[in-house]
Amino acid sequence: MGEPIRHRDIKLEWPADTRAAWQSLKPEFSAACNGLSLGMPYGEPYVMAAVRGALGEIDDPHLVAEVHAYLEQEREHSRQHRRFNDIITAQHPALKRVEKWLARSYRFLQRRAGKRFAVAYAAGFEATAFAAARWMDNRRHELFRGADPEPATLFLWHLAEEVEHKTVAHDVWASVDGSRFRYVVAMAVCFTMLVWFIFLSTVVQLTAWRRVLNPVAWFRLWKWGLAFAFEVMPTMAITALRDHHPSQQADPSWMPMWLASYDPIANTIPNWDAPIDEYLPAHWSTARAG
Ligand SMILES: [Fe+2]
Ligand SMILES: [Fe+2]
Repeated sequence: MGEPIRHRDIKLEWPADTRAAWQSLKPEFSAACNGLSLGMPYGEPYVMAAVRGALGEIDDPHLVAEVHAYLEQEREHSRQHRRFNDIITAQHPALKRVEKWLARSYRFLQRRAGKRFAVAYAAGFEATAFAAARWMDNRRHELFRGADPEPATLFLWHLAEEVEHKTVAHDVWASVDGSRFRYVVAMAVCFTMLVWFIFLSTVVQLTAWRRVLNPVAWFRLWKWGLAFAFEVMPTMAITALRDHHPSQQADPSWMPMWLASYDPIANTIPNWDAPIDEYLPAHWSTARAG
C-alpha cells in the first residue's frame, strides 16, 4: 500500500501581473497547460460525481475511506484551477467559449452516457492523469525551467497528487463494473477530449500572442505531442490489460519526494527547482546520511 491520500489545501498567491504566457521561454507550453487547466473544473466534477455515486455499492471500508480522500483532493484541484482559469480567461475572453463547449460536453456525458460509463471514464481519466504525471516528471527541467513559479507549482502539485491517488478510481470501477470494453471506450473518449480541448485553447492563445503561424511553436507542440503520445498511449494501453492494477505501475521518482516536502501548517511547498537538500524532509536526509 502506498502513502495515504492527503488533502493539501495549498496556498497559491496569484499576483496581479500573473501572465497567461507564464513560461516565457516556451510560451506554447504555457498555452497547452492552460488548455489542460481549463478543462479541470468540468472534467473533475464529472469524475467525482461518478465515483461518489458508486459509494453505495462499495463494501470495502478501506476503499470507501480512500474515495473520500480522493474526492477531497479532486475538489481542491478543481478549486485551484478555477481561480487560475479566471485569470487567464480574463486575459483571453475567447477562452470562455472553449469553457462553454467543455461545460456542454460534460453535461452531455452526465445526461446521456450513464453511470457505468461515467465510472469507467473516471478510471480512464485517472490512468491518463497518472501517465501524464510520469511524462511530466521526467521532463520537468526541460519544460518548467524559466517558468513563473505559481503556475508551475499548480500543475506539478496537481500531477503529484494524481500519482498519490492513482489506484482509487480504478478500484471503484473494478468493484462496481469491471467491463474492459467500457473502460477502453471511455478512456479513448477522455483522451480525445483532452487533446481536442488543449488544441483549441492553444490555438486561441497562440493567435492572441501572434505565434499561431510561428513554425517553432508548432515544431515544439508536435515534438511534445508525439513524445507524450509515445509514452502515454502505451502506458494507457497497459492499464486496459486483464488483471492490470495501477499499483503495478512504477511511480515517477521525483513527484512523491517533492510532495513529501509539503508544509501542512503553512500550506506551501518549495518551488519545484529548489535545491533538493533544502526541501528533502529531515528524516530522508537523516536516512541518507546514515
Ligand atoms: Fe485532479
Ligand atoms: Fe485524479
